[in-house]
Amino acid sequence: MRPLIAPSLLSADFGRLAEEIADLEALGVDWLHCDIMDGVFVPNLSFGLPVVEAIRRASRLPLDVHLMIVQPERYVEAFAAAGADVLTFHWEATVHPDRLVQRIQALGKKAGIALNPATPVEVLRDILPQLDLVCVMSVNPGFGGQRFIPYVAGKVLRLAELRAQLGATARIEGDGGVDPETASRVPQADVLVAGSSLVRASDRRAALEALRRSREIHT
Ligand code: DX5
Ligand code: ZN
Repeated sequence: MRPLIAPSLLSADFGRLAEEIADLEALGVDWLHCDIMDGVFVPNLSFGLPVVEAIRRASRLPLDVHLMIVQPERYVEAFAAAGADVLTFHWEATVHPDRLVQRIQALGKKAGIALNPATPVEVLRDILPQLDLVCVMSVNPGFGGQRFIPYVAGKVLRLAELRAQLGATARIEGDGGVDPETASRVPQADVLVAGSSLVRASDRRAALEALRRSREIHT
């Protein structure tokens, strides 16, 4: 199946964010991926609520908000109000993931859980049927431009098998070091997040086409 393509705005030129969004939207990308970093859960800071509000004003595309923050339960209402459509928090960042999924869905938003590379997908066995999305990180979160970690391909396959076994419908999202070659290693991913390989590409149209065609690449 054709993957949804979600450019990571972390790789965009923030001085011309509205133009960058218009350009990506004109190319026909599916979602906009917003990376929120707090300098605590990950060793980097990115952007917060006012920027998500500005992105919301600049686009009608679904906003896929990836919270790389501790205690995400403190902020889901604010990010929902800022315009998020999908709200994804990290499994490793809260002790009450079930409660948080319920709260996000009660806000009328799609709920996702992200897993760091070293977190096995099997932790989601019981909650998977409740989820709208699972973000499988193929780099250690915190920075764009890192290399895809090879063993994550096996996790994506195991997650797809678990989903089929449970009859669950959560989308599987691949995030980190995704380019046409690495995307071909995670053929079960329904959503591909791409920063460097798409947003930083000299020819974004060609990069988008290559990502969409990645399913046809066999390595
Ligand atoms: C990493 C972020 C990713 C990142 C992807 O912490 O969650 O979304 O921006 O960027 P690339 O595609 O450059 O790895
Ligand atoms: Zn991300």
